[in-house]
Amino acid sequence: MVYPIIMYGDPILRQRAKDIEEGTDVTQLVQDMYETMHQAQGIGLAAPQIGKGLRLFVVDGTGLDKEDEEAEDGLQNFKKAFINPVMIEELGKPWEFEEGCLSIPNIREKVTRKDTVKIRYYDENWNLTEEEFDGMKARVIQHEYDHIEGKLFIDYLTPLKKRLLKAKLTDISKGEVKTDYRILAPVRR
Ligand code: NI
Repeated sequence: MVYPIIMYGDPILRQRAKDIEEGTDVTQLVQDMYETMHQAQGIGLAAPQIGKGLRLFVVDGTGLDKEDEEAEDGLQNFKKAFINPVMIEELGKPWEFEEGCLSIPNIREKVTRKDTVKIRYYDENWNLTEEEFDGMKARVIQHEYDHIEGKLFIDYLTPLKKRLLKAKLTDISKGEVKTDYRILAPVRR
């Protein structure tokens, strides 16, 4: 099932998402999240973006073209669901990359993040794993992890940049934005 993507301005994108009870069957939800993300041509999607305040996100770079700027560091072979993840450490050299977000369409801005993450999470079969990722994989994980903490990439921008984006963000929160995927603006929720 494809969900509409929740737009910027919705309070659910600002809440800290809750843990999923261990052992819950998340197969359908994970599948729906992949489906929703694929039809919106995203490479990452967090549960709050489909209106669910749960600590779950999916990442899939397997559909990327070789020419895509994101198709680096093995992201093209990277497909994973992260359940109840805990960010243990962010380390390494800070680097800048232009990020976007399905909940904030048509806006891309440079964000600086550290290049390595150490993260503990359950996979969809409730196997607990601790892993280290770097480069683009770490970048996508950091962006999605922020979502379940109620944080968005625009929070990293300077006050001036934010001011310049204000009108666009207001339009997005009203659903007045062009996308080729189904969206749900806060006013209609
Ligand atoms: Ni996002």
